[in-house]
Amino acid sequence: MNKKMVAAALVILTLIALLLVRITVATPPSTVKIISLPANEYDPAVWGKHYPLEYKSFQRNLEMSASPTGFGGSVNYQKSTREPEILENFKGMAFSKDYAEDRGHPYALEDIKKTKRVTPQTAGSCMTCKTANLIDVWQEMGWNYAKTPISEIFPKLKFSITCANCHDPKTMKLRVINPAFIEAMNKRGIDVSRASQEDMRSYVCGQCHVEYYFEPGSNKVTLPWDKGLDPEQMYAYYAGEPSGFAQDWVHPDSRVKLLKAQHPDFETWSLGVHGRAGVSCADCHMPYIRQNGQKYTSHWVTSPMRQIEASCGACHDQGNDWLLQSVKSTQAKVWQLQRVAGMGVARAHEALAKAPATGDRIELARELLRKSQWYWDFVAAENGMGFHNPPQALNILGQSIQFSNEAVLTVRQTGK
Ligand code: HEC
Ligand code: HEC
Ligand code: HEC
Ligand code: HEC
Repeated sequence: MNKKMVAAALVILTLIALLLVRITVATPPSTVKIISLPANEYDPAVWGKHYPLEYKSFQRNLEMSASPTGFGGSVNYQKSTREPEILENFKGMAFSKDYAEDRGHPYALEDIKKTKRVTPQTAGSCMTCKTANLIDVWQEMGWNYAKTPISEIFPKLKFSITCANCHDPKTMKLRVINPAFIEAMNKRGIDVSRASQEDMRSYVCGQCHVEYYFEPGSNKVTLPWDKGLDPEQMYAYYAGEPSGFAQDWVHPDSRVKLLKAQHPDFETWSLGVHGRAGVSCADCHMPYIRQNGQKYTSHWVTSPMRQIEASCGACHDQGNDWLLQSVKSTQAKVWQLQRVAGMGVARAHEALAKAPATGDRIELARELLRKSQWYWDFVAAENGMGFHNPPQALNILGQSIQFSNEAVLTVRQTGK
């Protein structure tokens, strides 16, 4: 063979190899048989009879253990034991009474029923992301469910987050059921019902793992995305007091009108290096597993660091140690600044508590603190401890520290 032929053969072999890699890495199992289940079948055990491998891994969501990074994990500890500044920063609202680390999907309904944040009068909107029974409630009541007391809705809720939240029971295709997400995506010009399978591998998660607020009056769950998905754009959106929404609560000491950030995982990921490269939530959190020649999607939705090989190894060849260390190192840096920022927010609340109640400078200090707290909370409430978007996390924590410092200085300059 001459050199040209060798080169050509090499190119062809490489292409075939790439194709094989692409097939094994990116395609879902082709052997899935579709069983049409009734539209109102929400019991995962019934689905599980037909899809035993997926069901068996789904059941692992019941396990509770710490994550190898020391962050996240499924152990239901109170966050204030590690970050006491939370008690000052969320004073006057429910998150100061109970703010536990999240755990697996099968616990979502149980946890909402028992958290101290919820009372019988709490709005029904709180159950939106906790149960597959949302489908019935939505059909029966539309957005009316959002303002109905949750105690009246609870009897209708039998199942936690289950197969039906993400799959159409007739076709097994991925679907999104949360009306708030569907509406917010529509406003961005995206019709979720026509999304590609690849996009759906993140949208099924994005329907719950996002920032939201309740529209005053209707209590409708609304996503603050009209100006964009980064924390500064959302802050600007809230500044316009959409539908009269001015704050989640008022801090009793500093009298600042505050916003509570809710797990903006989807937004943070979408602007990070993996999101922009098209790596979906499922790629890392629901990797493909091979077992006795069968390939299936892991339904154990947990920290990817519990199965690094499956979660990251499909794309990265740096090895488990390198990957774990790089995640830990990012998280340690973000954690350190998160504490500094959180304590800065707490100090600013204390400074304002001792300041005169009114005055232009005081109002300016309150605005600076509102912003500082939003920036800190945006990272603190996000679930990846910075990994989903390291530069963004560090940047907005830095800004949070700047704003709380300015707030304290501004109070001092009032001459008191
Ligand atoms: C490139 C891989 C990757 C992608 C893509 C990704 N994540 Fe993560 N995620 C991680 C890692 C790593 C952690 C940190 C886990 C730890 O600390 O143990 C994490 C943590 C989390 C946690 C907290 C887990 C816990 O144990 O409490 C949640 C929730 C989460 N991600 C949701 C999402 C959602 C939703 C998306 C898509 C919008 C997404 N992730 C995309 C890798 C990823
Ligand atoms: C119906 C809403 C909903 C959907 C859909 C959803 N999640 Fe969650 N997720 C939650 C809630 C609520 C919790 C917290 C449950 C608790 O602590 O009781 C949670 C917890 C988690 C955790 C923490 C588990 C642990 O062990 O600590 C991870 C990781 C996670 N979700 C990732 C994802 C990913 C990835 C997707 C998409 C494949 C997804 N979620 C889809 C609502 C949802
Ligand atoms: C949080 C969302 C979510 C939940 C809940 C969920 N799935 Fe899935 N499921 C997925 C994703 C994402 C895939 C990958 C689909 C793809 O890429 O086409 C998948 C794939 C599947 C497949 C295709 C075969 C495979 O393994 O890839 C089956 C079958 C399946 N799921 C069954 C179930 C069953 C049974 C349950 C309940 C016990 C369930 N799923 C719950 C998100 C979910
Ligand atoms: C589907 C492919 C895919 C998966 C799965 C994946 N990554 Fe990545 N990762 C990428 C791409 C693409 C980049 C962008 C840089 C590049 O091209 O190498 C990247 C970049 C990174 C970087 C460098 C980040 C930076 O800011 O430059 C780290 C660290 C990383 N990934 C860790 C992980 C970990 C940990 C996991 C598993 C939890 C994981 N990745 C899963 C594709 C993936």
